[in-house]
Amino acid sequence: AGTLGSAAAAKGRYFGTAVSAQYLGESGYVSTLDREFSSVTPENEMKWDAVEATRGAFTFGPADRIVNHAQSRGMSVRGHTLVWHSQLPGWVAGLGAADLRSAMNNHITKVMQHYKGKVFAWDVVNEAFQDGSSGARRSSPFQDKLGNGFIEEAFRTARAADPAAELCYNDYNTDGVNAKSNAVYAMVKDFKARGVPIDCVGFQSHFNSASPVPSDYRANLQRFADLGVDVQVTELDIEGSGSAQAASYGNAVSACLAVSRCTGITVWGVTDKYSWRSGGTPLLFDGAYTKKPAYDAVLAALGGS
Ligand code: G3I
Repeated sequence: AGTLGSAAAAKGRYFGTAVSAQYLGESGYVSTLDREFSSVTPENEMKWDAVEATRGAFTFGPADRIVNHAQSRGMSVRGHTLVWHSQLPGWVAGLGAADLRSAMNNHITKVMQHYKGKVFAWDVVNEAFQDGSSGARRSSPFQDKLGNGFIEEAFRTARAADPAAELCYNDYNTDGVNAKSNAVYAMVKDFKARGVPIDCVGFQSHFNSASPVPSDYRANLQRFADLGVDVQVTELDIEGSGSAQAASYGNAVSACLAVSRCTGITVWGVTDKYSWRSGGTPLLFDGAYTKKPAYDAVLAALGGS
């Protein structure tokens, strides 16, 4: 039988998963990871609080473990995430504007240079827009102190740090056409028009019964691709179980495959038992690493067997 990674590769895509370093000693976790997936995203190990807990002191050990594992098995690595309002150490939020700007640019530069040549795509900025109908920016130390220009500045700094890396903007609840995705769309359109370096847009794609795979998911991915960027499904998981969950997974994968610039799909974890949705069953393998109907639906949608 095929695997998720080999089936995706036959369609010119990667198929990845979020990886947590703490589980790399568990045989079922590692054997499933190594057999099925062709890309990894560190689930938490590259976040600001993990890599620069105190100003100027960088801790790359846990993320290095994931990157080294991936490299030794020929898997690609997505870097997640350089500028985000969450998982920020306390020292960042307390800085004045000038200090914050230099700390942001230093963080981006030091982290990207450490992983230069090892990380093919970075979530440079994550979740900078509000939920709801305003399409407004989300409040954060970066937005509030540096203003709207912080995103452009982060991308320009990132391009200088590792010119070969794909630079992505990543967000959630942007999977369909709505006020939030329209605001992201307007930003990307503006960036492309002004030559601000941006190469891809990440759609986290966390779905559940309240927010199922939208009927305009494919159209939304396509309109972003038409701006001249790659699109990536970056954190796919779908609450539910059985055949309904399987059908939703099949829809999501088919939507990506229908968009030529949808370059890959990452599910947000290997096994239900370690999902951030504690107690949920949103992933492709159960707690015993058994393939679920959702796995079979994804493999079928990828054209694997
Ligand atoms: O590492 C500490 C540990 O030292 C401490 O003992 C423990 C108990 O307090 O907390 C541990 O940190 C936790 C971390 O995961 C690592 O396990 C944090 O509390 C916890 O908040 C954190 O949750 C992560 C969450 O992002 C917030 O960073 C989830 O694992 C992760 O799946 C989730 O992923 C996010 C994406 O990064 C962005 N998109 C949304 C997605 C789901 O929220």
